Amino acid sequence: MSRSFPSSVKNLTPSSHALALLLIYGMDLGIFDKADDALYDALSHAPFDRLTPQERGLATMLVNESLRWSLTLKSRIKTLTKKRFKDLQAPLRHLLLLGLLSVLHPQEREKERTYSQVQAWVELAKACKLAPAQVGMLNACLRRASEELAPLGDVEANFKGTALERQSLASGWPTWALKELQQATDPETVDAYIQASHHKQPMSVFHTQAQSEAEMHPVLETLALQGIKTQQPFLPDFPQAIHLEDALKGGITTLPDWDAGAWYVQDYGSAWVARHAWEAVKTYQDPVVVDLCAAPGSKTWWLAKAVEDGGHVHAVDVSAKRLERLTENMTRLKLNDRVSVHTADATTFTLDTPADVVLVDAPCSALGTISHHPDLWMNRSEASLKEFPPLQLAILSQAASVCHESSILIYSTCTWRVAENQRVIEAFLKTHLDWRLVEDHTLSMTALHDSFYVAILHHFND
Ligand SMILES: C[S@@+](CC[C@H](N)C(=O)[O-])C[C@H]1O[C@@H](n2cnc3c(N)ncnc32)[C@H](O)[C@@H]1O
Repeated sequence: MSRSFPSSVKNLTPSSHALALLLIYGMDLGIFDKADDALYDALSHAPFDRLTPQERGLATMLVNESLRWSLTLKSRIKTLTKKRFKDLQAPLRHLLLLGLLSVLHPQEREKERTYSQVQAWVELAKACKLAPAQVGMLNACLRRASEELAPLGDVEANFKGTALERQSLASGWPTWALKELQQATDPETVDAYIQASHHKQPMSVFHTQAQSEAEMHPVLETLALQGIKTQQPFLPDFPQAIHLEDALKGGITTLPDWDAGAWYVQDYGSAWVARHAWEAVKTYQDPVVVDLCAAPGSKTWWLAKAVEDGGHVHAVDVSAKRLERLTENMTRLKLNDRVSVHTADATTFTLDTPADVVLVDAPCSALGTISHHPDLWMNRSEASLKEFPPLQLAILSQAASVCHESSILIYSTCTWRVAENQRVIEAFLKTHLDWRLVEDHTLSMTALHDSFYVAILHHFND
């Protein structure tokens, strides 16, 4: 398969629909790996940097929702064309996928808008120089779909598959993921996770100095005076977190004192994990702390804050590119004197001084973040998940080797998969008899946050 766009697609007039097509087509060709990075890049450069905020919002919705529902949309394409998605030509198949999303998405499905929705995709097909027969097929399929097919979230009345396949089509979740989640938890939780995975979570911003509601008071007053509407208290247990009700015109960096390091963008789940690590670090005097899979550094901030009265943090990651963002953040937050950055493989990383606390925020399937990253359904398969537990165990074992006799190890992931959480800890404890699991917790996926897992392990010396 060719890994570049044909010129008719590359040179489309910039619009939300054209950008969505480029992204979905590019993900399918393997030109892009991560949808959010690709969208961010496209919207930051010509020609798509000219799109209005409304057009950007529409392109983002089209991309995210078509990835979230890709499995169901491909099944509907098969119903309509009698062909599998991958057997149809590009970019016809991508136009069909996006067009079907427009006419079948529950939020977009308004009868009076169907004609203009179909028309927009047909016009784009013409601009891509599709053969008239393909344009006609797209037009006919979208019209038929809008009249005959159930909206996304519903399953056709005559559906003949198993209960699991029905749930898969109704949710957009692959059967392997549903089966694994069903084995891990009860049916109500499975339903709650599915619902949460379709919910757009609000973004939270943490004030880096305030610790309590009282300390947040003057900060909120300043924001209100500047006409910035917030919701606060916003996150359970974190009075310093706010939710911005409207996007800031000039972007997040226009928050007062942004450059002086007053704010930090972080999701609740990430803060929840980081605070466990923060509490462990606080039990030592002048601790040596290792953040072993640190980039882009969301949790390093908490570790660096925990050593403000003495101590040091070593931030390690195999990706030099991702570490650049960590360095930028630590510099802005004026924490870089307390943090050393190491580009290294965590399975072999060593340190001259033994560490008091090591955080292993392990590379994982990230399925707990599906609400943020719907492209995971495209990038993950049952087979590809097998690579994670051995890597996680190797990193955790190396983490133990940089510890001393009474260190604390924190292991965390952003997945609900037992194979990457409890099973990894069990395997570690089998071969590390001088370590004990003190506590472990799973944060459920909700409309407010992703799913995370954290385990606290103590080294002991009886
Ligand atoms: C879950 S992310 C870490 C997120 C980070 N702790 C934060 O809160 O921003 C996992 C990280 O592990 C890194 N990674 C993957 N394999 C690694 C390895 N063998 N050694 C070190 N880092 C690795 C990835 O580059 C990625 O940045």
